[in-house]
Amino acid sequence: MTEQKATNVHWHHGDIERAERERLLEQKGATLWFTGLSGSGKSTVAVALEKALYEQGHLCYRLDGDNIRHGINKNLGFSAEDRAENIRRIGEIAKLFCDAGVISLSSFVSPYRADRDLVRELHNEAGIPFIEVFMKTSLETAESRDPKGLYKLAREGKIKNFTGIDDPYEEPLSAEIVLDTEALSLEQEVEQLLEALRERSII
Ligand code: ADX
Repeated sequence: MTEQKATNVHWHHGDIERAERERLLEQKGATLWFTGLSGSGKSTVAVALEKALYEQGHLCYRLDGDNIRHGINKNLGFSAEDRAENIRRIGEIAKLFCDAGVISLSSFVSPYRADRDLVRELHNEAGIPFIEVFMKTSLETAESRDPKGLYKLAREGKIKNFTGIDDPYEEPLSAEIVLDTEALSLEQEVEQLLEALRERSII
């Protein structure tokens, strides 16, 4: 856990807590954490799930690696330390959305188990459901999709520390959900995720 620098700071409670906000929204705050190689379909399934949830009257919010790195995390690169800080901040942000009663859909490569476990721990401590979704895709498939042309650049040595090429990806050992993206259609993936949310009474 990152050490707290500030001293003499105290938590200030409001009169309205998460439970009230959740009642208002008729759903529970929860994080679906999509992890997997670049090109594994994390953002695609999050976008489709967001639409399905919206159509059913549920409020969710997507946090996405490429987008977040344009704003709050624009000062971070792809070293192991920077990735850890990237994921730590996103974990805290996802938790804030959950505290607001919103379902956060977080799509990050998040290649290190320890970083993902830290986010899980943050949620556990707060009693917020955390559902890790592993977008299972072979490197060959991700590389053949190469939607942003980044694998090609990495192979040419024009991008260093690219996950799957010259940087590691540590597969989850006990993700709540494993989506075999090479076997499932997008619709099947969305249905499986909706079912997981229903089972846990999040929606
Ligand atoms: S993470 O490792 O810190 O979780 P994050 O999900 O925020 O990564 O960002 C990954 C996205 O940044 C990829 O989808 C890809 O578009 C882009 N990217 C650029 N350089 C790299 C790199 N070296 N490794 C992985 N992704 C990279």
